[in-house]
Amino acid sequence: DEMSFPSFVALIPAAGVGARMGASIPKQYAPLAGKPMLLHVLETFSAAPQVDQVYLVVSPADAYIDELLLPPRCTVLRCGGDTRQASVTNGLRAIAPQTEPDDWVLVHDAARPGLTVELIDKLIAFVKEDAVGGLLAVPVVDTIKHSNGHGRAERTVSRELLWAAQTPQMFRHGQLLDALSRAQDITDEASAIEALGLHPKLVEGSPRNFKVTLPEDLAVAELHLKGM
Ligand code: CTP
Ligand code: MG
Repeated sequence: DEMSFPSFVALIPAAGVGARMGASIPKQYAPLAGKPMLLHVLETFSAAPQVDQVYLVVSPADAYIDELLLPPRCTVLRCGGDTRQASVTNGLRAIAPQTEPDDWVLVHDAARPGLTVELIDKLIAFVKEDAVGGLLAVPVVDTIKHSNGHGRAERTVSRELLWAAQTPQMFRHGQLLDALSRAQDITDEASAIEALGLHPKLVEGSPRNFKVTLPEDLAVAELHLKGM
């Protein structure tokens, strides 16, 4: 329904260089199960019935995006910045004219191709009536060691309350832009919201929604995508 309010829009930061992947092209363009990583993400959002618009943030110098055939409702914004935070902030500013302050924005890493429509639906269902917003995350399963900074375990941290953050992270456009504009040295949207003293909702995600970072991650991502 075009008149429904608020809207749900996806904002996908894809302006990184993939330094840890160590490949000649940025990892979001790496071929995975027959198509570039980025297309898996765009097609998943495009197939999500509740998502009204999909915005993709790429670097102004991006030489690959024009070669892709984008799914419906996808718009490319060439306003990536030097950090993920800058890319997301620039993207939020770019869409401000066509977005209401109370519209929900789902920020999702281009490097998480394992996202599914079901996970998007779950996040929206758990968060859309929330006053703050929330994110997909998974409870930590490993025993966690705090190092002494010299390669030795100093102590063991209880994992009972620990969650590993994933994306999408879903917040209101106006509040998220405000929070990100003030925050410093953060690696996700939730940190900026937490800095306002607010507590984003943790919604259980899935291991398949992991972030592809190192060369060996490509094979694991491909297994998940082919097993769909
Ligand atoms: N990203 C971005 N703008 C940046 C840096 C990162 O839009 N200046 C995006 C990446 O394209 C990715 C997501 O943020 O989709 C998560 O970042 P990360 O996994 O760290 O990707 P890269 O920064 O590309 O990888 P690396 O840190 O290994 O260089
Ligand atoms: Mg990075």
